[in-house]
Amino acid sequence: MCGIVGYIGNSEKKSMLLNGLKELEYRGYDSAGISILSEGNLQTFKAVGKISNLERKCHNFTSEGFGLGIGHTRWATHGKPTEVNAHPHFGTFSNIVHNGIIENYQSLKESLQKEGKHFISQTDTEVIVHLFESYVEKSQNILEAFTKTIHNLKGAYAILLITQKSADTIYYAKNGSPLIIGKNNNEIFFASSDAPLIGLVTEVSYLQDGAIGAMNLQNFKNLENIQPLLQDKLTAQKDGFAFFMEKEIYEQHRVLLETMIGRVQEDCFILEELRAIDLQSISSITLCACGTSYHSALTGSYLLEKIAKIKTKVEIASEFRYKEPILNSGELFVVISQSGETADTLEALKLIKRQGFQTLSICNVDNSSIVRESHTTILTRAGIEKGVASTKAFSTQVMVLWILAGFLAQIKGILPKTEAQKIIQSMFKATHLTKVNIKMHEHIKRLTKRYLHGHGFFFIGRDIFYPLALEGALKLKEISYLHAEGYPSGEMKHGPIALADTRLFCVALMPQNLLYEKIKSNVEELSARDATICAVTSEYYEGSDDWIKTSQAQTYMEEFFEMMVALQLFALEVSLRLGNDVDMPRNLAKSVTVE
Ligand code: M6R
Repeated sequence: MCGIVGYIGNSEKKSMLLNGLKELEYRGYDSAGISILSEGNLQTFKAVGKISNLERKCHNFTSEGFGLGIGHTRWATHGKPTEVNAHPHFGTFSNIVHNGIIENYQSLKESLQKEGKHFISQTDTEVIVHLFESYVEKSQNILEAFTKTIHNLKGAYAILLITQKSADTIYYAKNGSPLIIGKNNNEIFFASSDAPLIGLVTEVSYLQDGAIGAMNLQNFKNLENIQPLLQDKLTAQKDGFAFFMEKEIYEQHRVLLETMIGRVQEDCFILEELRAIDLQSISSITLCACGTSYHSALTGSYLLEKIAKIKTKVEIASEFRYKEPILNSGELFVVISQSGETADTLEALKLIKRQGFQTLSICNVDNSSIVRESHTTILTRAGIEKGVASTKAFSTQVMVLWILAGFLAQIKGILPKTEAQKIIQSMFKATHLTKVNIKMHEHIKRLTKRYLHGHGFFFIGRDIFYPLALEGALKLKEISYLHAEGYPSGEMKHGPIALADTRLFCVALMPQNLLYEKIKSNVEELSARDATICAVTSEYYEGSDDWIKTSQAQTYMEEFFEMMVALQLFALEVSLRLGNDVDMPRNLAKSVTVE
């Protein structure tokens, strides 16, 4: 959550910081700010809303010559998204930006107030800068004061601090939130993820938890863990689509094929990544994740039990962390995360790792905290996903879980080659069916005009289509702000059917290859009570009001992937008709690094 950048060097600092923040804006866009320290002057600009507002505010400012700066784009945790609460926060001679949450900020604030420090914001971050200045006033040794400050903080943070007392140095600290430093000739860059650094540096250091330091042009080489930075900026651009989300829906076909490369052969599965795991000892699996990744975990549990016959539990990470979880010996713990930085998932992973279990992550971002923390990782090769509403990350996660199920079945000796071949053929067909059919897109665009009012949506499905229904509902509510729920269709009669009337919209997932007759009965019960039914299926169903026609398919997984695309497009088109920002929906952020 939130994004931070820092810069030391001779280039025009305002542009360096603003360009970096634009790359991070999808992580939080409640407010933004920059501070620049040059020739002894410390100048700060802040604005509510998007970076473009900040850009307008500092339009007439330039900073030539040597100097340094820090910047922040915010997703509010403590205090409303106002200019006062925007970062950087300042004391008398220092400014700070911070990602994460300081849990003990109240007690620190009270003691600093007793010392006479004056607070102007409602944020947790402001305590850090006042605490730092309080230590500087006592000791005059800047790094020592900064270190003492950090040692007093409880919580998660990535911090950059600049001070007039040391005008060539950025002070940094990292614990639980990502922070990267890169150097190029006579410049140093900081960022909370790779994106702002691409094209500017070729090598970076991914800081470890507990890192505290002072960085200037002289001491970059002292950093540990310096690694080359991939220079893949093209994939982060929109490729002619109006929205990242649309582009990401359309490229699923390609990224799914990439995810399969080397892992899916003609009649067998290969997962080199699992060499690090003692596969023979696995007797059960726990999958753990948040949001969309949780839905792919649920989907994976059906696949793992159906194909690999391995008992599989699924946990929501934020619940799992505090329930004093019990795992069986021989249990493989798998976390799933697009960003690799989700705080709840990361902490669940650390908890289980401490208990000595084998851990596997399924993740889209190499070198992310989750990847670094887990014993081994299967990367979902989705490329950078910028739309806040996850699409291609979901489909590639499901593909990896499907491959994992096939691979584990193979290891257990319960998957004859002929069966493996059938699954693999189905994988290729399913991938082909994610190629957006323009006619279907146009049809969905037209029919969404009938779904902009009402008192809510139910997305319903059975078996593996139940997690898909959950995901369809999450997509719609994230970007349309309409109320939507995913439900197992067989459960509707146990309560929710009470809501059925003409103003209840029901999107029914009706695969021909899995429990069709059962779901049809459930849909009939709703249709009989006048709910508006939008059937997603390949055969016309007379009880429906609208029909999103899918292809005739041989397997339910082929239907699953095609319906997934239909639901993503449905959410996109409803949101666009309502005039919303689909890529940066209100109140959300791409990477949720607070618990
Ligand atoms: O990066 P992660 O996969 O760990 O993120 C988990 C959720 O925050 C994420 O899936 C969220 O639900 C998305 N906005 C869904 O579109």
